[in-house]
Amino acid sequence: MNQTASSPASMTSGNAQDPQGSRFVRACLRRPVDRTPVWFLRQAGRYMPEYMAVRKHHTLLDICRTPEIAAEVTITAAERLEVDAAIIFADLLLPFTPMGLDFEFVAGEGPVVHQPIRSLVQVQALRTDRAEELSYVARAIEQVTAHFSPPRADGDQLGIIGFIGAPFTLASYMIEGGSSRNYVESKRLMYASAEPGHPDSAAWPLLQEKLLTVLVAYASQQVEAGADVIQIFDSWAGALSIPDYTQFCLPATTELVRRVQALGVPVIYFGVDTASLLPTMRRTGADVLGLDWRVDLAQAWRGLDYAVAVQGNLDPIALFASQDLLRTRTEEILRAAAGRPGHIFNLGHGIVPGTPVENVIEVARIVREFRA
Ligand code: CP3
Repeated sequence: MNQTASSPASMTSGNAQDPQGSRFVRACLRRPVDRTPVWFLRQAGRYMPEYMAVRKHHTLLDICRTPEIAAEVTITAAERLEVDAAIIFADLLLPFTPMGLDFEFVAGEGPVVHQPIRSLVQVQALRTDRAEELSYVARAIEQVTAHFSPPRADGDQLGIIGFIGAPFTLASYMIEGGSSRNYVESKRLMYASAEPGHPDSAAWPLLQEKLLTVLVAYASQQVEAGADVIQIFDSWAGALSIPDYTQFCLPATTELVRRVQALGVPVIYFGVDTASLLPTMRRTGADVLGLDWRVDLAQAWRGLDYAVAVQGNLDPIALFASQDLLRTRTEEILRAAAGRPGHIFNLGHGIVPGTPVENVIEVARIVREFRA
């Protein structure tokens, strides 16, 4: 594939939909759109009764691994909310299984990795040759793509988003064994790589390289199945200082972005608590950067020289406010973007359980009806 083209969509893969027809994909590429596209992080999740009805009979992993159910959950959320993009229902940690790392989701606790990675020997044992075992995600994407293939009433083609984790965020789950507050073990292994003679000095670079191999193969399956855009979740990158991010994470992440773009799709690169990291995250070359609610969108975008598209950035907890306040906050964000090509409306992070569904529907409506 031609990896030097400046515009990824100029080399669409055989089955990718015409990006002309999707305002979401056009916005990712900073092309003009008729109105700001909107979707929500974790739009299919526990706040939604339809999801909970499915969840009553299936575990999270069952849903992810059964293409018919994953597709149904994805489609239901996108249609209920009337958004411009559907993110495939899956989880960041699915690639751990074919890599040989067992994990489970424990109610109330989140993901738990039973034997966290702490040494070079453990990294060496991780496998990179079984990514095809993840093809159930591609099968689900095919079903979602087929469902949304006819243009909608307004002529727009709904965007299909595939996703993967970023090397740092995935490594942090592998090393900490679950969610973490201080990332002590992850940073310890990271710092060991800068210490010649440390017994585990090769562990961090090897882990980054192995993740890169698996993630590119997995993203490639998703694009082949019909994903129009790949979002890379680096949810916990905000835990890193600028020098640590630059030295230990930027190289592998940049390579990942480059190789996913070479598949012919734009890349959204997302993190939380990244206000000070944004200029460095931009160096990955991603087409779109996710902004959390702590940054002023207008100021952050200006700081990025408008050289990337931006996605965000309503506080997900604002969805618990009155619809009046919600309208104010939503319109403030739309005005901050000022109709400039390359804004995708979203939250700054995922919808949380307990969020009133009607408020999410209302925000989508406000964005759809807004005219600058
Ligand atoms: O519409 C969607 O966005 C849903 C698809 C989706 C899920 N996980 C399903 C899920 C996506 C995009 C993810 C990504 C994901 N998974 C991330 C990055 C997103 C972010 O929030 O920054 C992370 C960090 C994970 C790992 C993970 N999965 C955690 C930490 C948890 C527990 C969180 C919690 O609130 O308990 C999960 C579980 C999970 N993955 C749920 C869903 C809908 C909720 C649990 C359930 O249904 O039982």
